[in-house]
Amino acid sequence: LSYNGQEYEFPVIIGTENEPAIDIAKLRSATGLITLDSGFKNTGSTTSSITFLDGEEGVLRYRGYRIEDLAEKSSFIEVAYLLIYGELPTQQQYEDFTREITMHTLVHEDIKKILDGFPSNAHPMGVLSSLICSLSAFYPDSLNPNASAEDVNLSIVRLIAKMPTFAAWAYKNKVGHPVNYPDNSLDYCSNFLKMMFALPAERYEVDPIVAKALDALLILHADHEQNCSTSTVRIVGSSQASIYASISAGINALWGPLHGGANQSVIEMLEAIKADGGDAKKYLDKAKDKNDPFRLMGFGHRVYKNFDPRAKIIKKAADDVLNKLGVKDPVLDIAKELEYAALNDQYFVDRKLYPNVDFYSGIIYRALGIPTDMFTVMFALGRLPGWIAQWKEMRENGEPIGRPRQVYTGATERDYVSM
Ligand code: MLT
Repeated sequence: LSYNGQEYEFPVIIGTENEPAIDIAKLRSATGLITLDSGFKNTGSTTSSITFLDGEEGVLRYRGYRIEDLAEKSSFIEVAYLLIYGELPTQQQYEDFTREITMHTLVHEDIKKILDGFPSNAHPMGVLSSLICSLSAFYPDSLNPNASAEDVNLSIVRLIAKMPTFAAWAYKNKVGHPVNYPDNSLDYCSNFLKMMFALPAERYEVDPIVAKALDALLILHADHEQNCSTSTVRIVGSSQASIYASISAGINALWGPLHGGANQSVIEMLEAIKADGGDAKKYLDKAKDKNDPFRLMGFGHRVYKNFDPRAKIIKKAADDVLNKLGVKDPVLDIAKELEYAALNDQYFVDRKLYPNVDFYSGIIYRALGIPTDMFTVMFALGRLPGWIAQWKEMRENGEPIGRPRQVYTGATERDYVSM
């Protein structure tokens, strides 16, 4: 083989599928042979027993349970337990887990001083990832790579318990209001909503419709195998960094508009279409323009060549929630028109460009009163148990430190010439 001006010789290896003549892993390490697959496009980079995803068929299961069943029949805390510990909890396990979480919802008052240092125009994701990372300093036991299973579990419970407090505080910082402390008499989502929206000296009742809809949304976002943020959590954790630092890294990875920020971009796109007269078909045609294509946000997905099963559930939920809350949002109609037109357009059908989870989620968040720059925070709140489960699995498997290789494309060795 001739490559880059040099000749290479390779042995011809004869073997059968069942009896390979040589161990490929050994061959790779002996010859330095590597495969270029930027962004792990088609390569399985990890083995995992947490989430099953079939992009061709549009199937998603957590620990073997269909996402449709979990979204309908479970609570977010049950799903968190399932992802992290591998089984749906018994009634007793559920009560114990809930009680442990409730015991840890408060955060150290010194963390409030960190919060106070942020400017009020700080994006809530920056605040959230910083506060989560700060837990490594408040709980230095988490830095011990040989921490006992009990200590690791304590860190996990702390994370689940404190995340809603931080998320709500990041919002309060943004709007310049005093923070609310957790109300441990409430369930997970109601407590979060109260911390988000209650104002001083005002009686605040959480709307159960809103709390239930939020709970289902968190379930739908709870894990999605090796996406950008999850593989970040695993790779940071593989260096034995603390769980808080690893989750904080995942939050930062999620922040980008191509990942967790996508539903915000969808809402902005739908608003722009509305402002331009609401003609969905016109924008669909623009998306097909070869010279200057309009980027249709919320359509297509790197791994789905079929409907994103989460999108189907969310679309139905968007209808239900808006009806129940009596909210009329014209962008929902534009979204439905766009979807209908795309599904009946050969260009989109051929390219298998179906709406993904982000296409409808922003519309529901808006109906629940969640402002746009909190959408990614909501995603992080939902994804937390998935990240934790993936971090725990990586650690329990004793996986080696992540170390992607590269294919060098720069200059060959050059003689140094002085100026
Ligand atoms: C997710 O849920 O993480 C997104 O759909 C991104 C992905 O899985 O690639």
